[in-house]
Amino acid sequence: MAISLVTASPTTGTLILPVVKDGLSAATLPGLSPENVALLRSAGAAQRFEGDAGSVSDAFVVHDGGTRRVILGGAGKGTVEDFEKLGAAVVARLLTSGETEAVIDLSGLAIKPSAEAVARLASGIALRGWRYDVYRTKLPEKQKPTLQSVSICGAPDGSASAWDAARGVVEGVAFTRELVTEPANIVFPVSFVERCRKLADLGVEIEVLGRSEMEAAGMGALLGVSQGSVREPQLLVMRWDGTGGKKSPPVVLVGKGVTFDTGGISLKPPAGMEDMKWDMGGAGAVAGTMLALATRKANAHVVGVCALVENMPDGNAQRPGDVVTSMSGQTIEVINTDAEGRLVLCDAMTWVQKKYSPKVMVDLATLTGAMIISLGFEHAGIFSNDDDLAESLIKAGKAAGDPLWRFPLSPAYDKLIDSPIADIKNVGPREAGSITAAQFLQRFVDDGVKWAHLDIAGMVWASKPGAVWDKGATGYGVRLLNRFVADNFEG
Ligand code: BES
Ligand code: MN
Ligand code: ZN
Repeated sequence: MAISLVTASPTTGTLILPVVKDGLSAATLPGLSPENVALLRSAGAAQRFEGDAGSVSDAFVVHDGGTRRVILGGAGKGTVEDFEKLGAAVVARLLTSGETEAVIDLSGLAIKPSAEAVARLASGIALRGWRYDVYRTKLPEKQKPTLQSVSICGAPDGSASAWDAARGVVEGVAFTRELVTEPANIVFPVSFVERCRKLADLGVEIEVLGRSEMEAAGMGALLGVSQGSVREPQLLVMRWDGTGGKKSPPVVLVGKGVTFDTGGISLKPPAGMEDMKWDMGGAGAVAGTMLALATRKANAHVVGVCALVENMPDGNAQRPGDVVTSMSGQTIEVINTDAEGRLVLCDAMTWVQKKYSPKVMVDLATLTGAMIISLGFEHAGIFSNDDDLAESLIKAGKAAGDPLWRFPLSPAYDKLIDSPIADIKNVGPREAGSITAAQFLQRFVDDGVKWAHLDIAGMVWASKPGAVWDKGATGYGVRLLNRFVADNFEG
């Protein structure tokens, strides 16, 4: 989708006129004759359009001897979030409508948007306009997207640079969605790494550990998960330093990248197993965030680690009851091979702490189905050993549109993952399943490291369209992490 800021409203394409909540009767509707203003008002009323953010009302007016589509778009109370919803709603309406171009004219709006609001408007357009049709060779003509460009007119000074910075974030989200959408025969550990190589052109330093390097490092937990798969595991490390070497140590992000999770020998039931192609959503969010930070040249030092494996049943797969030795030296009894995410993450966390001695480490993982039982599809869960870190992540998530809800950590849960044979076992009972998973990870956090674990199992994939996404991959985590870095580690 081409998005541009223009000074004069084009006279072709769909005209979009934003209207604030309950503002229709008083709204100036620029570019329309008095008759058409009256028509738009009654069309809005007939469609019960009240200016709520995300709502739209359609009409056609006689224009230049032909017809022109005019859409009233709700700008709500005029918050930045409302403007993002406005852009997204307009695109949702027009994407496959037959229309190819549209203009959003802000000049008559009762609440003058800030440059940031315009950047969010443009972000909403770009995010909602994202599609991945590469495997659709027979999409009927009428279902093909038609909308190609949206221009915005009447934006305040500074909007162009605000949008420039936001554009990097949108590209990061798009990259995450692409990685998450691709099936597991296309995106597996090695090909995931290949897709991330393009980040090197943006100045991201890339390091990759393959099986032999991981063996040498002693990553028995990660390798145990991978051993039933013919796909070689990869530890992908992406480092962005926009500070010119001035800030050290880096902030560290770690993502669960199980490119397919069959459950292993503790095989999952067939119904819905295809969803487990997106069990790499944490790693996808880390990769997208690195792309966003590098694209907008963030003044921060950030290392992103993607722990990439495939979890398969096989003659060589690990068995329930196996004991593995993690890189930290702690031994783990693998009770259930389907609780593989924590096994993969723990070695990635140990490795990155040893290499970079971070003070702040955030992991993201589609870790537990129990998280979906707790929070559904509206929040990801956050667990943290530090209240300030938790607060700043929750705040960033709220501001950016990736909401989080905090859960407890407590030594009281530790007994649930005691093993009779090893230092720890990889599952507890059914109860508090997301918390025991977090308790497990906490054992691999070094003293003094502020750490947060984000269980994003319910947020990576949407079965229904949301405000800024269609059904499918959401790109959850990129906007959150980008905002977290921007608000806490830049400048
Ligand atoms: N990847 C799954 C968690 C998951 C399930 C994410 C559904 C998204 C949707 C994870 O590896 C897993 O299988 N977890 C188990 C843990 C259990 C064996 C303790 C689960 O949640 O059932
Ligand atoms: Mn699993
Ligand atoms: Zn999994």
